[in-house]
Amino acid sequence: MNDTTAVPADSLTALAGRYWLPVYRPRDLVLERGEGARLWDSAGRDYVDLAAGIAVCSLGHCDPDLTRALVDQAGRLWHTSNAFYSEPPLRLAEELVTASRFAKRVFLCNSGAEANEAAMKLVRKWASEQGRAPQQRVIVTFRGSFHGRTLATVTATAQPKYQAGYEPLPGGFRYVDFNDLTGLEVAMSAGDVAAVMLEPIQGEGGVTPAAPGFLRGVRELCDRHGALLVLDEIQCGMGRTGSLFAHWQDDVVPDIVTLAKALGGGFPVGAMLAGPKVAEVMQFGAHGSTFGGNPLASAVARVALRKLSSPAIQTNVSRQSTALRNGLQRIDDALEVFAQIRGRGLMIGAQLRPQYAGRAGEILDACARQGLLALQAGPDVLRFVPSLTITDAELADGLERLEAALRAFVE
Ligand SMILES: Cc1ncc(COP(=O)(O)O)c(C=O)c1O
Repeated sequence: MNDTTAVPADSLTALAGRYWLPVYRPRDLVLERGEGARLWDSAGRDYVDLAAGIAVCSLGHCDPDLTRALVDQAGRLWHTSNAFYSEPPLRLAEELVTASRFAKRVFLCNSGAEANEAAMKLVRKWASEQGRAPQQRVIVTFRGSFHGRTLATVTATAQPKYQAGYEPLPGGFRYVDFNDLTGLEVAMSAGDVAAVMLEPIQGEGGVTPAAPGFLRGVRELCDRHGALLVLDEIQCGMGRTGSLFAHWQDDVVPDIVTLAKALGGGFPVGAMLAGPKVAEVMQFGAHGSTFGGNPLASAVARVALRKLSSPAIQTNVSRQSTALRNGLQRIDDALEVFAQIRGRGLMIGAQLRPQYAGRAGEILDACARQGLLALQAGPDVLRFVPSLTITDAELADGLERLEAALRAFVE
């Protein structure tokens, strides 16, 4: 009964229609196996994967070192809860602090939304310890951002489509246009802002990088107005944009950084890194999680962190980033589909020309038919976030399939 290979894909996907809360609309295929940047479905068809589980499988599928770490730990100890110590989360916290170059302490959790919840609770606690009244603890975020789906993180996510119907939303949030320092200055002028939170490169909102100098400008405004700088590196961090932390390229020192996605390479884990201003604010009982710092997740994350920090990864990100951009440009030269190709490292967005606006989903369907998995970032942007270990051959194959899909789509 464990062998699902004999079950037709359509009868499996029918189970989603019947039993899942219908909040997702996956592409109509059932993935069964993966290796590197390649996946196979239940019918044995292969796919080049330029999605990597939404920027999660940064070491490719079934990386042997991650698999070994998981299996070894699974044979030893799965779970302790935070009522007892085990070695993997202790070591992981130390290694994250060292790698981050700014953090003093770490809170481990299970997802990006949880890491951001922890960050926002820390901001509020810090502000309350400073004697600021609740209305003086505003968190500013940016339009087009994405910070998660819990009630607080969806409120931080300044995109109405994610918030509609969930009112009343938690209070104490204010929104500003991304890359608008003047707007931010106005939003902070009342002196009631406790933190500014942002993604160095907005992911879900369209793969939009912070403009050169923007992060430094935000840091200066935070310093001037007594606010914390919180960076959400859940999607853009862990080597994806060419440095282990994306903000290293912007030359700023944050107060809090959140991580998840690639930190576990496909095993759920999140982390909130706290710098010196805030590291001692939350004391016993202030926050917690049953699974956070779970030995299995931590054992895997330690290996992922070590591998994603390696110079070899950064060299490949830079090489494949150029190849991906050049490939997209060549496709555009032939087919005239993209208005702009943007992003950094292996986090690349291709904005569709106005005549194809709103049709990213259809293009992804065409891609899947050609054996290519990619993502969208809103209805008008194709998003490519492949594994950071993708090879020349895998990427070239992926680009060929993309061109075939787009050719079929435009014709
Ligand atoms: C920048 C950013 N923050 C937070 C999240 C939420 O992470 P999770 O889905 O693990 O809760 C995401 C997920 O896409 C993200 O891209």
